Amino acid sequence: MTREVHSVEETWALAREVAATLKPGDVVCLEGDLGAGKTTFTQGLAKALGVSGRVTSPTFCIVQEHRAERAAPGAPALLVHMDLYRLHGEDDVIAIGWEDYLAEGAVVVVEWPERAGSLIPQDALHLEFRHMEGDENRAIRLCGGNFGIMNGANEA
Ligand SMILES: Nc1ncnc2c1ncn2[C@@H]1O[C@H](COP(=O)(O)OP(=O)(O)OP(=O)(O)O)[C@@H](O)[C@H]1O
Ligand SMILES: [Mg+2]
Repeated sequence: MTREVHSVEETWALAREVAATLKPGDVVCLEGDLGAGKTTFTQGLAKALGVSGRVTSPTFCIVQEHRAERAAPGAPALLVHMDLYRLHGEDDVIAIGWEDYLAEGAVVVVEWPERAGSLIPQDALHLEFRHMEGDENRAIRLCGGNFGIMNGANEA
């Protein structure tokens, strides 16, 4: 399914819908050009999960951990945001704590997921962000995952 959004607020609203479906140990892969909205989307996820700190791009530190002060019962209490651009393969990804984070029940949000190869689980949710004409317009394609947000979306 593809959802079109027309503002940062609409991207955050989509993130809120996605967040409501996330369980501890889920992996969310974000793809798309520079400035397409991957980090902005992650800010929305974090807020919806009860994280109050600021979410910035993990580009220079590879991994950022965001703990929810106010996680709903049963909802993930840790959001881990990774930018794997500078890593070279699965061993590197394991070295930064991949398996430990998932075992701990984090939601792991991954930019440049191709670096993680077969570590990405089959049931990961994939979102692909694309610029559209107009400053704030984006097309966001969602696939995979076991998510109940596929209904009511405009197909493309
Ligand atoms: N609908 C929208 N959704 C998300 N961001 C938007 C939207 N409209 C405008 N923007 C702006 O576009 C920029 C998106 O930047 P962001 O850091 O989220 O992109 P990114 O995909 O993470 O890029 P990078 O690959 O450089 O990390 C922000 O400045 C944001 O304010
Ligand atoms: Mg980013």
